[in-house]
Amino acid sequence: NKGHYEHYMQKEIHEQPESLTTTMRGRLIRGDSCKAKSVLLGGLKDHLKTIRRSRRLVFIGCGTSYNAALAARPILEELSGVPVTMEIASDLLDRQGPIYREDTAFFVSQSGETADTLNALEYALENGALCVGITNTVGSAISRNTHCGVHINAGCEIGVASTKAYTSQIVVMAMIALVIGDDTISSQGRREAIIDGLFDLPNKVREVLKLDQEMKDLAKLLVSEQSLLVFGRGYNYATALEGALKVKEVSLMHSEGILAGEMKHGPLALVDENLPIVVIATRDACFTKQQSVIQQLHARKGRLIVMCSKGDGSLVCPGDSCRVIEVPQVEDCLQPVINVVPLQLLAYHLTVLRGYNVDQPRNLAKSVTTQ
Ligand code: UD1
Ligand code: F6R
Repeated sequence: NKGHYEHYMQKEIHEQPESLTTTMRGRLIRGDSCKAKSVLLGGLKDHLKTIRRSRRLVFIGCGTSYNAALAARPILEELSGVPVTMEIASDLLDRQGPIYREDTAFFVSQSGETADTLNALEYALENGALCVGITNTVGSAISRNTHCGVHINAGCEIGVASTKAYTSQIVVMAMIALVIGDDTISSQGRREAIIDGLFDLPNKVREVLKLDQEMKDLAKLLVSEQSLLVFGRGYNYATALEGALKVKEVSLMHSEGILAGEMKHGPLALVDENLPIVVIATRDACFTKQQSVIQQLHARKGRLIVMCSKGDGSLVCPGDSCRVIEVPQVEDCLQPVINVVPLQLLAYHLTVLRGYNVDQPRNLAKSVTTQ
């Protein structure tokens, strides 16, 4: 049921304040004078000791689910104190990469049925790792075959392009970082700030969704382009990859997410006055570096669209040479949840304007059950 929306993708983008609320329901503890703010994940509580003691946390997934893990990686590293690595499921299998008994392997999958991810799970089980599922589908193969896990509870996702599952996956992995780090006193202030940020996140997503018309206008401007680059780094490297994946898979426009730190090592050669480039430069520890990236792209006459924190528009844009997307600022590790939304909206409007099928992009299936 699409309600008053024209497409499932549109509905699922706009229901993110509600899907995030259900993802967090019953899992955030407000705390009081005698009890600290905390997170409760029923599915993990009996396994936390093993997870904390593991030698490495490995996150495994495909497509958008992989990108969600990448978005959560910095906070997982910061709060867990355990090395965190990422694997695209098919690549792990192609390489028969190392998975050890001392590892905890997390399998991220909206459907819980993706063949590559399931094969990687079988491989990790054979190698003796503790296997944890992060899935949206209760009763799915990943939910059944992992030792334990967390259901993201985002509600059924119908559009082939994953949107609300992505933001719920990030929130669940941030909550996993919080529960793993729960026994570390030195990070308590940081954890409480993130929990406050989680409580307020649905409101901030509601706010960023008001950019809908602005993104439609931007889509009109870009509708006939051949290609779109998206530059990000740090917490928002994943946002660049995920924004570009959305644009290419539904609007069928070539798009590439680029790690801004790699700009000078090749991508800079593409920059001219015609190619549109989105640069994500919201406030976090990488802000100054992104400002310098913007200046260098501007010096090469790049056609820039800069995503920045509210009020930073004139600060990030040299002269009035670029277009600005101002988004609400949240706790740095949660910013990817906010920043992906305008890019989801852009991909959606580009697709409608270009006349392609929004909910069932050419050649794609919702659940990829073959290798
Ligand atoms: C559970 C109930 C929820 C109830 C809540 C009340 C289910 C599915 N969830 O939620 O309805 O409101 O208790 O306390 O009945 N699991 C895996 N692999 C996965 C995902 C989950 O093994 O990929 C396991 C978990 O370890 C857990 C169970 O499935 O044993 C349920 O997980 P989850 O729904 O996340 O647990 P709760 O949030 O506690
Ligand atoms: C992109 C998309 C795919 C899936 C991928 C994994 O919008 O939907 O990239 O994310 O096929 O699917 P799940 O998460 O079901 O394992």
